[in-house]
Amino acid sequence: MQTQNLAHTIIVTGGAGFIGSHLVKRLVSNYPDTLIVNLDALTYAGNLENLKEIESSPNYRFVRADICDVETIKQIFDKFRPDGVIHLAAESHVDRSITDPLAFAQTNVLGTINLLRASQELWESMPDRFNGKKFHHVSTDEVYGALTPGDGQLFRETTRYNPHSPYSASKASSDHFVRAWHDTYGLPTVVTNCSNNYGPNQFPEKLIPLFINNIRNGRPLPVYGTGENIRDWLYVEDHAEALDLVFHKGTPGETYNIGGLNEWRNIDLVKALADTVDSALGNPAGQSRQLITFVSDRKGHDMRYAIDASKIERELGWKPRTEFIDGLRQTVEWYLNHQDWLDSVTSGAYKEYYEKMYGNR
Ligand code: NAD
Ligand code: DAU
Repeated sequence: MQTQNLAHTIIVTGGAGFIGSHLVKRLVSNYPDTLIVNLDALTYAGNLENLKEIESSPNYRFVRADICDVETIKQIFDKFRPDGVIHLAAESHVDRSITDPLAFAQTNVLGTINLLRASQELWESMPDRFNGKKFHHVSTDEVYGALTPGDGQLFRETTRYNPHSPYSASKASSDHFVRAWHDTYGLPTVVTNCSNNYGPNQFPEKLIPLFINNIRNGRPLPVYGTGENIRDWLYVEDHAEALDLVFHKGTPGETYNIGGLNEWRNIDLVKALADTVDSALGNPAGQSRQLITFVSDRKGHDMRYAIDASKIERELGWKPRTEFIDGLRQTVEWYLNHQDWLDSVTSGAYKEYYEKMYGNR
């Protein structure tokens, strides 16, 4: 395939996952003069099916590699000589981090350091060095800890880091390393910290797709604790748009918070979701609510997340576009129309993991 004439090259890590695949599809179609290299290890969460629409585009390449593999990452950087990196590859599920924290330190911390070093070494060897280059680290609002319901507080870019789970601790650590590479070596970095995403292609271990999948299989909907925890939900394509903007227009050294301005108590969200699925399937009203089961709480369960996204709105003109009720309906329809996708990702290794963690529920 001919790629020599492309003006730019961006490596996107984790491009076969949930958010990464939406971002890769957006970049491939919006920037035809840029080669988009999707670097992904294809763990249980990565799925090339998510990228079918663009897999034969002339400005797209897939490379299977582990971000922790020092030699392979160096070779990939030497081969593609990217002028940008957008780093999403991570272990991303809080429950898994509670049972297997080491994997989170490995990928999220050491993998990020390896990418920072590869970018620094490549760019320092180029004639124009850091000029026109950017390393964009995609992170989470969970690094800020937890808020109290009803206190009116929001996470700002200046909020003190206070992570509680092994997942959020590993992401917080990676954010600090990114800042260190900016402050120590002058690497042009940007960091984004985003709230909970939902939408098509999310692995069904996360609340919304897990519960859609359980409803279609007539399984219980395991709500942790009392269901009063609050999350701020953002449609995944709105996040991809924000990432595109920050990567292309964000100021090096800065952090941008991204959020949905859309707080829901879990129990209210689960009821709305159950009703949306019932309506799509033509079920009697209230049928799926009967599957709601309160189960023991997640260890260290953060009570409330909520983002102040005024900096990215003010500086880059971004705000969420998708109304939650529309986004939820589109999401439910996507999963119900892609039951083969749900079946394929929940077969094999994930099925074993789920049954070990949750038994039959
Ligand atoms: P995901 O779990 O769906 O996908 C992660 C991807 O990374 C997969 O394709 C997987 O194969 C790949 N990967 C994992 N380990 C790897 C390794 N060692 N080397 C190479 N590739 C590897 O994750 P997601 O939900 O799409 O999240 C993407 C990023 O966004 C993560 O960094 C996460 O912390 C962050 N984030 C997620 C959310 C959310 O709500 N999902 C919100 C804010 C931030
Ligand atoms: O805030 C951003 C974060 O959002 C991302 O950084 C993470 O990668 C992403 O997984 C997500 O983390 P959460 O822990 O908030 O998402 P999860 O879908 O696992 O859970 C959402 C809420 O629902 C949380 O309060 C826990 C609760 N929950 C979750 C599951 C899987 C349940 O009550 N029952 C469940 O079975």
